[in-house]
Amino acid sequence: MTTLHVPVDGADLAVEVQGEGDALLFIHGFPFSSLMWYDQIIALTRWKRIAPDLRGAGRSSAPAPPDGYSMAGYADDLIRVLDALDVGLAVVCGLSMGGYVLLELLRRHPGRVRAAVLCNTKAEPDSADAKRERDRLAELAQREGTPWVAELLVPKLFAAATHATKPEVVLAAHDMMVRTPVPGMVGALGALRDRPDSTPTLRTIRVPTLVIAGHEDQIAPPDGMRRMAAAIRGAQFALISDAGHLTPMEQPLATNRTLAAFLDTLR
Ligand code: MLT
Repeated sequence: MTTLHVPVDGADLAVEVQGEGDALLFIHGFPFSSLMWYDQIIALTRWKRIAPDLRGAGRSSAPAPPDGYSMAGYADDLIRVLDALDVGLAVVCGLSMGGYVLLELLRRHPGRVRAAVLCNTKAEPDSADAKRERDRLAELAQREGTPWVAELLVPKLFAAATHATKPEVVLAAHDMMVRTPVPGMVGALGALRDRPDSTPTLRTIRVPTLVIAGHEDQIAPPDGMRRMAAAIRGAQFALISDAGHLTPMEQPLATNRTLAAFLDTLR
């Protein structure tokens, strides 16, 4: 795996790039990093896999918020990444916050998205209560540090089977959360709180789309994801069992099989 450093507006992004061929861009969720896509990057060898750390995440630099922290800012950063790699068109796969960014890419830069994979995500904006919870978490991150945020999030992230039989997956996710720089976490929480309603976007999507849900996802429950798929013209829907909110990490084989079958239809 090669790590490139791509300068974007006010930040420097670390981007994992592997393989040659048509481009497949992975966008991680909050508060994670490109590492969450490890099992997909290893497996989907017929594609040029591109997995950036968003600004303020992983090994990318973390400008002080609110600098560039919005779904639009993240989306524009990713266009700089594609430009730097000379990629015109990419299949884009986003999980949760990565899905919110993908929906923003489809609004702002539809000509760059060849096909969309929406994993464990939703189109609705935050409720008033959810917005207050974002502010509470941001305050907690600043006052107590990222381990406290990780402690709060871990119980909501995984299926029962993952907690019971895959401690290494829980540990890996925990590690990513703890390593997220505080300014990046606070910036992302503001971006999540202020993200626009993407439900009107769904019916405008004109590219092949796959929607992947985790059967036990508490954050983006499968019923909502099924409705999301129904609102997108021709979208496929896949429900993965024994998976919570981090389906690609919890069930890599089933996720890879589903992804590979969808990618095959694009060739
Ligand atoms: C994520 O995984 O990106 C977050 O759960 C998104 C969110 O909190 O809305």
